[in-house]
Amino acid sequence: MCGIVGYTGASQAAPFLLDGLKTLEYRGYDSAGIEVLGGDGRLRGVKCAGRVSSLAERCAKADLRSTCGIAHTRWATHGAPNDRNAHPHLDCTGRVAIVHNGIIENFSELKDELVAAGHSFASDTDSEVIAHLIEDAMAGDAAGDILVALRLACARLEGSWAVVAMSADDPGRIACARKGSPLVLASTDGGAYAASDITALAGVTSRVIQLDNGQFASLDADGSVRVFTETGDEVSSPDFLDIDWDASAATLGGYPDFMAKEISEQPEAIERLLKGRLTDNGIELDELEISDEEIAAIDRIYVVACGTSYHVGLITRTLIESWAKIPVVVEPASEFNYEDVLVTDHTLCVIITQSGETADTLASARKMHEAGARVFAITNVLGSTAARESDGVLYIQAGPEVSVCSTKAYTAQMVAAVLLTLYLAHRNGSMATGEVSRRYRELTKLPDLIRTVLDRSWQDKAAAHEFEHAGSALFLGRGVNSTTAAEGALKLKEVSYLHAEAYPAGEMKHGPIALLEPGFPVVTIVPNDRVREKTISNIQEVIARGATCIAVATDGDEDVASLVERVLWIPPTPEYFVPIVAIVHLQMLARYVALARGCDVDKPRNLAKSVTVE
Ligand code: AGP
Repeated sequence: MCGIVGYTGASQAAPFLLDGLKTLEYRGYDSAGIEVLGGDGRLRGVKCAGRVSSLAERCAKADLRSTCGIAHTRWATHGAPNDRNAHPHLDCTGRVAIVHNGIIENFSELKDELVAAGHSFASDTDSEVIAHLIEDAMAGDAAGDILVALRLACARLEGSWAVVAMSADDPGRIACARKGSPLVLASTDGGAYAASDITALAGVTSRVIQLDNGQFASLDADGSVRVFTETGDEVSSPDFLDIDWDASAATLGGYPDFMAKEISEQPEAIERLLKGRLTDNGIELDELEISDEEIAAIDRIYVVACGTSYHVGLITRTLIESWAKIPVVVEPASEFNYEDVLVTDHTLCVIITQSGETADTLASARKMHEAGARVFAITNVLGSTAARESDGVLYIQAGPEVSVCSTKAYTAQMVAAVLLTLYLAHRNGSMATGEVSRRYRELTKLPDLIRTVLDRSWQDKAAAHEFEHAGSALFLGRGVNSTTAAEGALKLKEVSYLHAEAYPAGEMKHGPIALLEPGFPVVTIVPNDRVREKTISNIQEVIARGATCIAVATDGDEDVASLVERVLWIPPTPEYFVPIVAIVHLQMLARYVALARGCDVDKPRNLAKSVTVE
């Protein structure tokens, strides 16, 4: 939610700030703004509703010459997405500017207090209180020191934040604070940088400083970065993180959109993740640092995640219960946080999060930690909060996922979940070494199976025509593929804004069947598995109501082909791994439907890539 960047140094700030915003735009894109310190010692800026490209056009006409500035791309929480609510926000004097990512929960009381003291507000946001609190501190106890002023302001705040602030009265300096929302910093010969995530800094450094919760930092024009605790003591050895991502991984590289690029990257992502994981001792996941005795003692596993990652969790439950014989509870994090949990010394919690920054998921992990559970994270983003706060991390190594719609992270997370399951099952004695090797060999065939599906994208393009006049769609599947249906429906509604609902195929007759009428598109996942016959019966029920049936079926299944309007063919795939292969068709289908409806597949309306508010 919201991307923030800051720079102070010897070069012009605006080019980096605009490039940084473009890179971070996936975090929010309803308005954007930039503020710099001009040569005349005054702050000047540009901000507007809409995309970073609109901001860039306006910036081209403005005088933003400066070597110190901050910028923001917004996902609205408090206040409509319009010009006046766009960040940066200024104080009454126009000499303090801030950008904020997070939520100030006590902003209403603070605003009343500040207004009563004579401050006037220019926006409806919660964030603006920070600028006014800094204004008071600059004139009072902070005596013109922006870092001290930010620290005093933060002491009044409740909620979550990453804040980057500057003041015309402390020129060339940028102050940063973090509690709950991510912020990384870089110290280079060319200047000092701040950004919401490492992708914005990948072009300027290969080493970032990670601010911890409760820490503050001062960025100076000579490129130095100093980190301080809440009480103002300097941290002698802040946390460094080496970035091994290639900066070009976050560019389009000839693809029309990131969704297309990331869908096509799935085979390589899975190959990377699997490489070297099978040894004579079974699956190698030493990074989890858990002994065989501890694994054998696990009495229950909670799997917690949101959105697409939650769908991975649903399949993880089936795998773990079937193969590792450990009871699993799987919950969306937003619900889990308000439920009672049964935790013993032997309870494991697995959080699944691509970004590693989803607020609900992090809150679940903290809750489980406090209750005494061991917490493992399956995540993509190196050094993310989930990774840093967990007892063990399994990185999916999918590379930067830029499109808001998660595709390659979904399949890579699923493969990571399979590896974790095989590891647990082998170590607790539920699965023999030979069986582990057999399953692993099946996994290594997935990249080629996915390549085959990618080569059949024309089938999805053709099937997209069936949605031209639709107002809604139904996705059906049984067993693990009821989750494939759920993920397919999520992809479709997320990128095409077409309503879609998923149902276990056998449940359709208990309600959703009433929706069916001629032309209503129904996507059914019907691979060659143990429930194929039953699912074919459900297809018959769909057809009998005149609805349009699109099936995801296994090569050669003429029974299915003879019944339905369209088939999205998948090559023969082991039953448990069908969700990893079949979803690729549904990702491509959603994209084609969205493109036909004129949607921006990478930046769907109202969404943000990492949801850092609860
Ligand atoms: C996926 O397409 C969505 N954009 C969304 O559901 C996402 O999976 C969810 O917000 C969780 O994100 P995370 O994996 O980064 O925690």
